[in-house]
Amino acid sequence: MRILSGMKPTGYLHLGNYVGALKNWVELQTEFDAFYMVADLHGLTSNQTEYKEQAKEYVYNMIVDWAAAGLDPKKSVLFLQSDIAEHSELFTLLSMITPVSWCERNPTFKEQKEELKGKDLDNLGFLGYPVLQTADIALYQAERVPVGKDQIPHLEISREIIRRFHFIYNTEVLKEPEPILGKVTKLNGLDGRKMSKSYDNAIFLRDDEETMRKKVMTMVTDVKRIKRTDIGHPDECNLFPYYLAFSSDQELIDGIRKDCESAAIGCVDCKKKLTETMKEYFTEFYKKRSELATQKDMVYDIMRDGAKRAGLAARETMELVREAIGMNSKNRYMG
Ligand code: TRP
Ligand code: SF4
Repeated sequence: MRILSGMKPTGYLHLGNYVGALKNWVELQTEFDAFYMVADLHGLTSNQTEYKEQAKEYVYNMIVDWAAAGLDPKKSVLFLQSDIAEHSELFTLLSMITPVSWCERNPTFKEQKEELKGKDLDNLGFLGYPVLQTADIALYQAERVPVGKDQIPHLEISREIIRRFHFIYNTEVLKEPEPILGKVTKLNGLDGRKMSKSYDNAIFLRDDEETMRKKVMTMVTDVKRIKRTDIGHPDECNLFPYYLAFSSDQELIDGIRKDCESAAIGCVDCKKKLTETMKEYFTEFYKKRSELATQKDMVYDIMRDGAKRAGLAARETMELVREAIGMNSKNRYMG
């Protein structure tokens, strides 16, 4: 079964992105025929002017992080959205049958407009964000889409757009996608707010061990635990979920919980132990990352190969879509 998902290259990936998406993607690729896309066209909806300077850096590093985290370019198709012109073509065709009101009532539309104040979001492309996303999915006939909860409304719009396309053109050429919601341990940032590059509270995948250690040592912990002798509350602590995300050692996790709740361990020692746990977890990642970060050819080969494979699949779907609409280039000039 085919799956597709994407990420916008608007910054370096942080641990929130890793735990919230990438980690699941790696697991899913063994079970599914996976297409993973760097969604640079989507990035352009909010970063028009920065694109030229930043995109290359962020796109490149996104592929590096993906591969280092274990996405296998032989198994999965890793590609750049703007390499495949068919995304824009299908977007145009779908936009003809998508009611504007569907986009306007998209809950993330208003939210993001609020959140990203200062960016130029007053453009048609931003309004059409879910239509482009529908094109991304439909183009590869993906039946499942691994996403976070925040993307559920988008996916619902995708299903509606595809149903409407089928109804209007009396066809069934596309697939109605369903979400795959992965098991996610939510990680907050260093200050306890949602991890985000714009809050300056993120640990990035590209941070080296020393940077990661330093950042962990600055983390806000249980705010009720003021003195070393105060008992802690792991479930209200900002740091504890990191153990859940990066340790598979249940004994260690239970031990930390117990020692925190009885004040047997202090937060400083707890952070030190977490650093070690994370170092171990990311050993393989750091190794692969440093190999890839310097081997530009390898990274560009991954992208070229991905574009080739994605392009084949996309063109196949476009034949069907054009045929359904009556724009099939083969038949049009043959009487
Ligand atoms: N909108 C998604 C996000 O912000 C990224 C994305 C673009 C995507 N196209 C997609 C996700 C297609 C799933 C399927 O995270
Ligand atoms: Fe959090 Fe660890 Fe401190 Fe407990 S000991 S409050 S889990 S940092």
